[in-house]
Amino acid sequence: MNLLLFAYSQLWTLDKKLWEKKHAGSGVAAASGFDVALVEVNDQIAAKSLDSIKKSLTRVARKQFKENEDAQQKYIEETIQRIDGTSDLSKSVKGTDLVIEAIVENMKIKHELFTKIDSAAPPHTIFASNTSSLPITEIASVTKRKDRFGGLHFFNPVPVMRLLEVIRINETSDETYKKMVAFGEAMGKTCITCKDTPGFVVNRLLVPYMAEAVRMLERGDASARDIDTAMKLGAGYPMGPIELSDYVGLDTTHHILKGWNEKYPNDPLFKPIKLLDKLVEEKKFGVKSGEGFYKYNKK
Ligand code: 3HC
Repeated sequence: MNLLLFAYSQLWTLDKKLWEKKHAGSGVAAASGFDVALVEVNDQIAAKSLDSIKKSLTRVARKQFKENEDAQQKYIEETIQRIDGTSDLSKSVKGTDLVIEAIVENMKIKHELFTKIDSAAPPHTIFASNTSSLPITEIASVTKRKDRFGGLHFFNPVPVMRLLEVIRINETSDETYKKMVAFGEAMGKTCITCKDTPGFVVNRLLVPYMAEAVRMLERGDASARDIDTAMKLGAGYPMGPIELSDYVGLDTTHHILKGWNEKYPNDPLFKPIKLLDKLVEEKKFGVKSGEGFYKYNKK
């Protein structure tokens, strides 16, 4: 498939928060042979991002090259060399074939970013968003390349989760779609295709499921541990819904539910949950903040 010879380099633009998914994703792309420009809001955060990627790569290297420290080191160094941590968005986008946007989930800020890069990027460059819950069509609306626009949605932890959701908007051309799938497959992912619908496939099912578990906890039907144990041992899930909520981030789950509730106020699945509101208000976001439904050791 000659598409795989396509010299993709990749641009990951980031939120101020250091979120593992974005960094790990850049690492996985670089480990798959892509040249990656990792664009951050400033050079200091860009440097920190590279440290975070190194940590993720070390974990993967230890697994891939057990007992062979030289091979682990070589893998990490070769991969890191393919990543350019930068804050120069306009310059980076000029040499980029595929842009994957992973900034804060705010439509106005996404529009500002895409307006800026649409005029700076070469005509052939494909734009994609890694949004969890916002409509791709609306994100793409500010660009003049809707035929070269789609969604590429990754899952945490990116090095382990094998799925990539490829989202087509009405205007996405067949050529763009095929290139996005080829990119995902070159990263070792299994691609599924979904229309531009709220939450696509995974989050549309997972978020209401996690929300229902929190409602169950709020009603006092069962403890957090028991709900998690039930779904792990009774339904074969790798994590229970409460620990998964902490893992995904309570702020993220809260933000997705809030957005959907505003859009679909009559849907009971998306109704606000007082317990979740309270934890987010207290900045208990789960694993990343050290406490959510459970407590964690901050690294
Ligand atoms: N980077 C690299 N490797 C990692 C990793 C990471 N961040 N986290 C885990 N791993 C690897 C470990 O090295 C280990 O490999 P090994 O078995 O070969 O030694 C393997 O994954 C299993 O890890 P652990 O032994 O530490 O722990 P678990 O067996 O409990 O697995 C898990 C951890 C893979 C996270 C598993 O619990 C899981 O699959 N959980 C569900 C995750 C999930 O549902 N993700 C989707 C969230 S929704 C989302 O991301 C969408 C967004 O838009 C909100």
